[in-house]
Amino acid sequence: MAYDKENIRNVTIKDVAKRAEVSIATVSRILNGKDRVSPLLAERVLLAAKELQYQPNDVARALKIKESRSIGLIIPDIENPFFPALVRGVQDAAKIHNYAVILCNTDGKTDEEKKYIQFLYSKRVDGIAFTESVDNKKNIALLDSLGIPVVLLDRRVEGMKASGVSTDNRLGAFMATKHLIEKGKRRIAFISGSPKLSSGADRASGYQDALLHYSIQYDKKLAFIGAFTYESGYAAAENLLLSRHQFDAIFASNDIMAIGAIECLNKYGIRVPEDVAVVGFDDIRLATWYKPLLTTIRQPVYEMGQYAIKLLVEHITGERSSSYEKIFVPELMIRQSSGGLEESK
Ligand code: RIB
Repeated sequence: MAYDKENIRNVTIKDVAKRAEVSIATVSRILNGKDRVSPLLAERVLLAAKELQYQPNDVARALKIKESRSIGLIIPDIENPFFPALVRGVQDAAKIHNYAVILCNTDGKTDEEKKYIQFLYSKRVDGIAFTESVDNKKNIALLDSLGIPVVLLDRRVEGMKASGVSTDNRLGAFMATKHLIEKGKRRIAFISGSPKLSSGADRASGYQDALLHYSIQYDKKLAFIGAFTYESGYAAAENLLLSRHQFDAIFASNDIMAIGAIECLNKYGIRVPEDVAVVGFDDIRLATWYKPLLTTIRQPVYEMGQYAIKLLVEHITGERSSSYEKIFVPELMIRQSSGGLEESK
């Protein structure tokens, strides 16, 4: 639209405030993006500025508060190989949609998780992909209160109605345990992730489902709570050995706990799979480099990351208003640590 130079007088911030029926301070805050304000108020001020043909660079700057073209990604443990693979999927999808990703690693700490939720809000990210680190209701309430689109990645969160992406963890754990039973194992020890996290709890359920299905008595002396870390897998295996309870297999709720358990068994002179079969969960790249090659449950982690961004962008743009849960199907990858393919029935 061509400007009629004679009619443009020096429009001031005061004029914009008057037209929008807000204070000058509010107009300044909105145009300078200092504080987060309600989208309705921002729209009102921007409309007034536009109608008055206020300085284009101020309006342009103000429009930025509506979108930063950035997405926050909160994960619990960057050192667990599962998460970098997830980040890769998120990053590649965000790039396609022209969003930058701000990666926040909480190290499983409540305070860190809270700090990053607040940080991402202050940076006015357009959306957040969130993997719960700890079972903290206050952090969840804070996240839920921001008015920012959120997609729950890998782990459901009780009480949050947000869209989510995960693997069918209960089915995956059933498949892992069924495989060991089909290998003739009957004293199957279980190392779980935190039962307060949906992935940990669902895998524990899948393990018990399989024992029940094959009429194998659940023995709580063979069940240990891990933390999805190498150290907790090693410690669980050592406690199992020191307990002197008989066992012929271990199902660990993720690959790095399975590797920690194998390292411990080997230290005590126990061979895998000759003496004890081991199965993990995730199918991280290390599973095919480690010796013995790790039998595990494959999560389509890259695709999970990509799909999470697809959903998040749909929420950001308003293309999707209702929440949606995408659950990927897991796959059993039979390798050496459970006795390999040749003997499986
Ligand atoms: O390895 C980390 C685990 O935590 C993965 O299995 C993933 O599903 C997450 O829940």
